[in-house]
Amino acid sequence: MTDFQEETTARAADSGAGATAAFKAKQQAGVADTDPERVSLLATEVLSAVHDTIRKHQVTYAEYDALKNWLIQVGEDGEWPLFLDVWVEHVVEEVNSADRKGSKGTIEGPYYVPGAPEFQGTAQMPMRDGEPGTPLRFEGQVRDLDGKPIPHAKLEMWHADAQGFYSQYAPGIPEWNLRSAVVADEEGRYVFNTVRPAPYQIPTDGACGKLIAAAGWHAWRPAHIHMKASAPGYRLITAQLYFPGDEHNADDVASAVKPELMLDIQKDGDAEKTVYDYVLDPA
Ligand code: DHB
Ligand code: FE
Repeated sequence: MTDFQEETTARAADSGAGATAAFKAKQQAGVADTDPERVSLLATEVLSAVHDTIRKHQVTYAEYDALKNWLIQVGEDGEWPLFLDVWVEHVVEEVNSADRKGSKGTIEGPYYVPGAPEFQGTAQMPMRDGEPGTPLRFEGQVRDLDGKPIPHAKLEMWHADAQGFYSQYAPGIPEWNLRSAVVADEEGRYVFNTVRPAPYQIPTDGACGKLIAAAGWHAWRPAHIHMKASAPGYRLITAQLYFPGDEHNADDVASAVKPELMLDIQKDGDAEKTVYDYVLDPA
């Protein structure tokens, strides 16, 4: 076993609980901060959809109890962020981005951490000695809707390692491994020197994995690089970029792939390179 293999043993289960702790720490708005009429409207309609499904499919008491059991387990395993980000967030993103004219975005997922090490112009992605994976030079430019470069735009990047694990959510990986930020130059140009991530399997050892197994689905997301691009006076965009040819581009468990988010990967000796530009909407 290599060091990297040892580190990945029996740790997928920790990711769910870690995502729950991280989300709670962000102090998100609670229902008490939402307009009561809006809460009532949304809760009533969601419950009606559940009632309709029960009637339509003649749900049994055994099935109702199985659901109760499973919902309890999602909470006990800390997997609500995983569940919601995989099966619900893509529609929230769709609704909230419909009026954008610039670059397409997609779901954030549960593993973003603010405050990663920041670089000027070019980021050397923090990584371990001998970090597995093909070296990847990722560069681009940030512009406005008129094509004008946006000086000093901020780019953030985070992604899984070549075995599909995220730092801070799987033990044994240095804190900021494969997470960094870049302040673009005068012309909005930026570079990240990183490694190609692996396809990622959402944790299969908790409640979400149980649902996937019980339904005969699969747990895979295609390999992806998460990014955020922002600048004062512009709308922040959260994206994920994908690799052509990945077998799960067409059946992502999180339904987060869009054609506009597909990278054009070029060989560069033993390494790879790609160019990806952002167009930011005004705020
Ligand atoms: C999950 C993980 C991801 O990396 C992602 O982009 C979306 C969802 C998850 O495990 O829920
Ligand atoms: Fe991800």
